[in-house]
Amino acid sequence: MTTVTDQHPKEDADIYFETHAAPTNLALVASALNTFLTHHRVAGRRVVLVSSGGTMVPLENQTVRFIDNFSAGTRGATSAEYFLEMGYAVIFLHRQFSLLPYSRHYSHSTNCFLDFLSEWGRIGEDDDAPEGTGDGDVVVRRKYKAQMLDVLRKYRRANEQKLLYLLPFTTVSSYLFYLREVATQMQIFGSEGLFYLAAAVSDFFVPPSRMAEHKIQSGDLPDPLAEDSTPATTKSDSKGGRKLMIDLDPVPKFLKRLVERWAPDGMIVSFKLETDPSILLQKCHMALNRYQHNLVIGNLLATRKYEVVFVSPDGEEWIRVPQAKDGETQIEIESEIVPKVVDMHERIIKEKKAAKRA
Ligand code: PMT
Repeated sequence: MTTVTDQHPKEDADIYFETHAAPTNLALVASALNTFLTHHRVAGRRVVLVSSGGTMVPLENQTVRFIDNFSAGTRGATSAEYFLEMGYAVIFLHRQFSLLPYSRHYSHSTNCFLDFLSEWGRIGEDDDAPEGTGDGDVVVRRKYKAQMLDVLRKYRRANEQKLLYLLPFTTVSSYLFYLREVATQMQIFGSEGLFYLAAAVSDFFVPPSRMAEHKIQSGDLPDPLAEDSTPATTKSDSKGGRKLMIDLDPVPKFLKRLVERWAPDGMIVSFKLETDPSILLQKCHMALNRYQHNLVIGNLLATRKYEVVFVSPDGEEWIRVPQAKDGETQIEIESEIVPKVVDMHERIIKEKKAAKRA
């Protein structure tokens, strides 16, 4: 805490924004978001922000090395599709090159996308080769056709009706600048705005004042016997050896800022990832108590595709889907999670509207 502004005392979150450069395209993004949100407001559609993938923390200004957060983007990309099916417009704030709604079915999979295709001339050679229309045609193999047609139709609908706004981030600071922009613009939706925060957000970062400009050179690590004159990330260790020691500051908890100021009327769902089953519930309750939002969805790294726990002011509820055996298609747990979240959202909207009328 330092100085006091007109409305709020200055906090770590304010200092974070003051000391980080905004993404260079922020003004363009803000304008595109405004168009997207206005369009859906006029159409009477609800909007959900889905965050997805992991944020990255650079160790150098001209970044070669960085610290990453785990997340392939499966939870976010899959959930976004179910929200679209349930009538929401979706802002998909995702780590660049992580999984995307619809294309996720064909990227990062064990099959290369070319394995889904065949040539008309090869009919008879592949058991499952498709019917084609002429020599040289590239066609979808018969066994993939039904599923691909279904995905294609949903993808086309989302594009044609401009239901999906893709917003990529890389660093934790770009994620936070975009989150703030989206949330403040979504205020026009009041309680009809939903925040579904599945991204894995960095807890520590190198402040710009300590960040090396160029690639850290192993040969340039500080002399352990010299005075500590290098305020960069690198330091010598206490035993006098040359080591790369990274000195990180905590990233302020922006969920607090989101709940209290950026999206005071929206429904906010956060996720909690743990690896130790014995602390998961306790961590979820701690997050709910600390941030006073609507729902924490807890999951364990090893079982996140088969079970999650909803922790809300109403209590705890486990959601489970059976684990697919070899050759079976896995039921997507997001097909259970998203309708439950939408039910809660509907209830919250009704309650807030009733409270306003009273
Ligand atoms: O993408 P997949 O491979 O399918 O994996 C999905 C998932 C396991 C990553 C996802 O289901 C999940 O659990 N995401 C949350 C991971 C996590 O615990 O993130 P966290 O500890 O960084 O953040 C927890 C909450 O605190 C988040 O809602 C975040 O917005 C918030 N937070 C975090 C850091 C920070 N500085 N400020 C925050 O407000």
